[in-house]
Amino acid sequence: MAYPFKANPHFKAWVPVLDNPNCYVIYTPGQKPRLIYFQPVDYWYKPAETPSGYWVDQFDIRIIAVPEDATKHFPTNGRIAFIGETEAQHPGDLNPAPLLNRLHFDRAWKTEYEIECMRRANRTGARGHRAAERAFRAGGSEYEIHLEYLRAANSTEEELPYANIIGMNENAAVLHYIQHERNKLDDSRRFSFLIDAGANVNGYASDITRTYSNRDDEFGQMIEAFDRGQQEICASVKPKVNYPELHMQGHRMVARILEQFQFMRDIDADGIVEKRISSTFFPHGVGHYIGLQVHDVGGFMADPKGNTIQKPDGHPYLRLTRTVEPSMVFTIEPGLYFIEPLLADLKKSENAKYVNWPKVDAFRKYGGIRIEDDVVVTANGSENLTRAAFAAER
Ligand code: GLY
Ligand code: MN
Repeated sequence: MAYPFKANPHFKAWVPVLDNPNCYVIYTPGQKPRLIYFQPVDYWYKPAETPSGYWVDQFDIRIIAVPEDATKHFPTNGRIAFIGETEAQHPGDLNPAPLLNRLHFDRAWKTEYEIECMRRANRTGARGHRAAERAFRAGGSEYEIHLEYLRAANSTEEELPYANIIGMNENAAVLHYIQHERNKLDDSRRFSFLIDAGANVNGYASDITRTYSNRDDEFGQMIEAFDRGQQEICASVKPKVNYPELHMQGHRMVARILEQFQFMRDIDADGIVEKRISSTFFPHGVGHYIGLQVHDVGGFMADPKGNTIQKPDGHPYLRLTRTVEPSMVFTIEPGLYFIEPLLADLKKSENAKYVNWPKVDAFRKYGGIRIEDDVVVTANGSENLTRAAFAAER
């Protein structure tokens, strides 16, 4: 079997064609871009449709029936750079780093068109999330919830921007849990549900996470407190804020909840962050750029030359270190989990004495909480694409 085809993000940046290999965009400054479009005569597989839609007038389109014919439409003079897979036919320099750095740096600022694609991807994702929550409340297995998500998002698995993360109970503590357990759990053994699932519109992703408790219980209260904390972080998003500072705000929020719900003793929220105990419970970054890739490129870039901005010490999984500017789009996704191996390390450490272990042990069965929204930076603040989408998909 061949791997599923995924369009190169640099190609998707030009053309909303996601399912057709052996295509090329040729751009020469000052000229209409040329699209080499692969349309074989084939009765084993369905050939790509003839290009149509709002974008076709923007291109000088050349149809090819066999991949080898692409070279007939390549430019033959001038300086040529080729961006694409190493095995593709190409003229000029292959993936030159100075060009890629320039493009990756600029991908941080999204156009109105790109933001609108992500607005729609959030609407589709929210529709899937609503259906998934209903399936959870109705007693469905992880697998059944996954199917309901796909149906409501009108999507195949391959069209999703990433594999659905759908975990009940302890599975919610596995950050990228993608197993989709087939067995239904009896209601008495259903405690919690975490779903991290997105959608794709014209090659642009949404990335959304919600967590639910099966009952009106203390875990449900924790989710509510956590949700308020997540929204406070979103409300802090505005131009000139340093993204790592939002990450640290996430740690302070997690620490406050650990203190408030008495998972700790003899230490306050500041101490929990200072001694890095919050990292046991929140072991990933607070978010990442999103766009043509779910984890979009350029998160560490200091400039278009490829210099980078270091991650803060002790936070190896943070994916974004740049300063926030208008038209950037990123996720805000703090988490608080009860992760077996990380708790085992904490138990062996100096900091074990601060932990209310019976309480922690009682909450392992819930797995954890993550709440994730996609946020666009505006001139003076932000637009939360995900909250708006959930409000519209009631
Ligand atoms: N949605 C998965 C992640 O951001 O890693
Ligand atoms: Mn994410």
